[in-house]
Amino acid sequence: MDTHSRRKHHQTENNSDGAGPVPEPDPALAGITVQKDPAEETVRFFLADEKATENFGKLLGSLAADGDVYCLSGDLGAGKTLLSKGVCQAVGVEEEDVVSPTFSLMNIYNGKVMEVRHFDLYRLNSLEELADIGFYEYVGGEGVSLVEWGELFTSELPPEYLQVNLSIVPEGRIAELIPFGPRYEAISKEVLRHVDAGA
Ligand SMILES: Nc1ncnc2c1ncn2[C@@H]1O[C@H](COP(=O)(O)OP(=O)(O)O)[C@@H](O)[C@H]1O
Ligand SMILES: [Mg+2]
Repeated sequence: MDTHSRRKHHQTENNSDGAGPVPEPDPALAGITVQKDPAEETVRFFLADEKATENFGKLLGSLAADGDVYCLSGDLGAGKTLLSKGVCQAVGVEEEDVVSPTFSLMNIYNGKVMEVRHFDLYRLNSLEELADIGFYEYVGGEGVSLVEWGELFTSELPPEYLQVNLSIVPEGRIAELIPFGPRYEAISKEVLRHVDAGA
């Protein structure tokens, strides 16, 4: 054993301090950190870069089941569509198939795991238009529904859903999860558990 490897070995022993080896961070969660505030009910995550936003979406997608609804809010460029791409990839949609529904208003993706119904309500002006794009038939039905700008039609949203608020900060993005209903409280806790465990 040369001096270098002996030193490494020695350091490993020192670091273990009886608690076992320090787990390697999960590369799929790199750049995602929890911002806990015990005074608040909601959980915030800091997303350091574009990849972190996409991976946060993948994590949400991996936890989704048929009928789940995620509403994505935040200014233009906050990352709603990028996060949606992550969700889509997690349920087996080819990344290049996913495009912003800004003009189409709704896109449907046939993922290998489940369907994704991806809405952007920004350009809609009335409940008639909402009905016309099939919002009432599609949201909460089979597959997972992603609703960008759902806050423009809060009265039309299902009673239970996960609200994801994205905000732009100079260093990256903040994602806040606000669960409505027990199903989404469970998902929020799972997200927190994964990010905590991967940190
Ligand atoms: N965590 C991040 N840090 C820095 N830039 C990001 C981050 N997440 C996303 N972005 C950038 O922000 C933009 C988000 O665009 P998009 O997903 O289309 O936003 P939206 O759908 O909310 O209008 C992209 O240009 C992307 O590169
Ligand atoms: Mg968008």
